[in-house]
Amino acid sequence: MTRNPFTVILGAQWGDEGKGKLVDIMSANFDIVARATGGANAGHTVYVKTENETKKFVFHLLPSGLLYPHIQCVIGNGLVLSVPSMFEEIEELKTKGFDVEARVKISDRVALLFDYHKLIDGAQEDSKGSAKVGTTRRGIGPSYADKINRRGLRLCDLAHWETFVEKYKANVAWHQKVYGFEYDMETELKYYEGIRPRLLAMMVDGALVLDQALAGGKKVLVEGANATLLDIDHGTYPFVTSSNPSIGGVFTGTGLAPRDLGDAIGIVKAYMTRVGSGPFPTELLDALGDSIREAGGEYGSTTGRPRRCGWFDVPMTKYSVRLNGFTALNLTKLDVLDELDEIKVATSYTLDGKVLESIPASLEDLARVEVQYETLPGWETSLKDVTSWEALPENAKNYVLRLETLLDCPLKYIGVGQRRDQLLVR
Ligand code: GDP
Ligand code: IMO
Ligand code: MG
Repeated sequence: MTRNPFTVILGAQWGDEGKGKLVDIMSANFDIVARATGGANAGHTVYVKTENETKKFVFHLLPSGLLYPHIQCVIGNGLVLSVPSMFEEIEELKTKGFDVEARVKISDRVALLFDYHKLIDGAQEDSKGSAKVGTTRRGIGPSYADKINRRGLRLCDLAHWETFVEKYKANVAWHQKVYGFEYDMETELKYYEGIRPRLLAMMVDGALVLDQALAGGKKVLVEGANATLLDIDHGTYPFVTSSNPSIGGVFTGTGLAPRDLGDAIGIVKAYMTRVGSGPFPTELLDALGDSIREAGGEYGSTTGRPRRCGWFDVPMTKYSVRLNGFTALNLTKLDVLDELDEIKVATSYTLDGKVLESIPASLEDLARVEVQYETLPGWETSLKDVTSWEALPENAKNYVLRLETLLDCPLKYIGVGQRRDQLLVR
């Protein structure tokens, strides 16, 4: 049996680049889709056209490949798992005609995210005032903090109910001492006691399952969540998420080994967006930014918050291409720029008169960078019905080719709309 390399799809900017769409499309040719990092802070949208309607699906914890009945999925050890959120997703899919539960496998080592983590997330944000991160308030940071502090609970702990209860109570008591909140432990424990058999039936050794799948000739796709510029190490710290959504997190978050990595595909939007606070050197704070937001439907898939919009930022995106070693890119939402007569691209940053080779680590320096732009002509026609690279208007092709040259990475896939069929492959 030939051992296949696995493929990775990762967000290359500040999130919401359109990862879910490509994962869904590519899943047709894979056997397993795994998530490696993050939690229900992710919101991955998939539009599927059936005979008489186009249906929208938003995945938070479950991998976006599940709409194909042949897909098995693995929730990797690197996530923070809110069990009620996952079951809500499973139930919602059921109401839409997709019974996926038997195909969802969860790593025994995954960290559990409880409701008190959400309370703490909210309390920390509120205490920061204008310096708040603008988190999704899904409890992501506090749950990862428990894991790193070695006081968190994992899925495997649920297999031993009495010690689970003990550890859980000690964990809540510790947080109550620090944060002073009232908490209804009994209701949460009752929920876990009730859901336990269902949950344990989904538990596997995730790394082993993935390794055996590769050894058995199966094809594995890893779906990134959040994005590289939100990475706790490489992102615009502290305005980041609390995990490694870039390539390193794929290995630690699944147990897959680097020698098995094949393609790493980066998702890049044809302009930049960001939700929450933090630096955004090419942000458009004017009517143009508003019009891109409206044209692109730039409102959060998880929280509904308006996304900040700006011009394509080559220094930021190239930084991400380098860190992840992308083998190809998917440029998404090119159609959103249809009406613009001119499109700007940020080509370099300078600081104190010197061109930068990378992104400054310090926010103070990042706030002082000067951005150099290049202006390209728009195409001013609708791309939504274009079905091949060759049929794109010249100016649209030129925009794509210019970005490809500047990023020095093949722009293999081009999105011209939300649906599966609105993807051009070069
Ligand atoms: P993700 O978090 O990276 O999966 O992205 P989101 O789902 O949060 O946001 C991306 C949005 O853009 C979704 O509403 C997608 O349906 C939509 N989208 C993806 N690709 C395209 C595209 O090429 N054109 C347009 N117009 N929309 C797209
Ligand atoms: P997908 O997978 C966009 C942002 C939040 C906030 C910061 C920290 O849909 O691309 P957190 O709740 O993780 O502690 O929030 O990170 N953020 C995202 N922004 N898309 C995401 O996921 C995000 N996940 C986290 O808005 O600024
Ligand atoms: Mg999203």
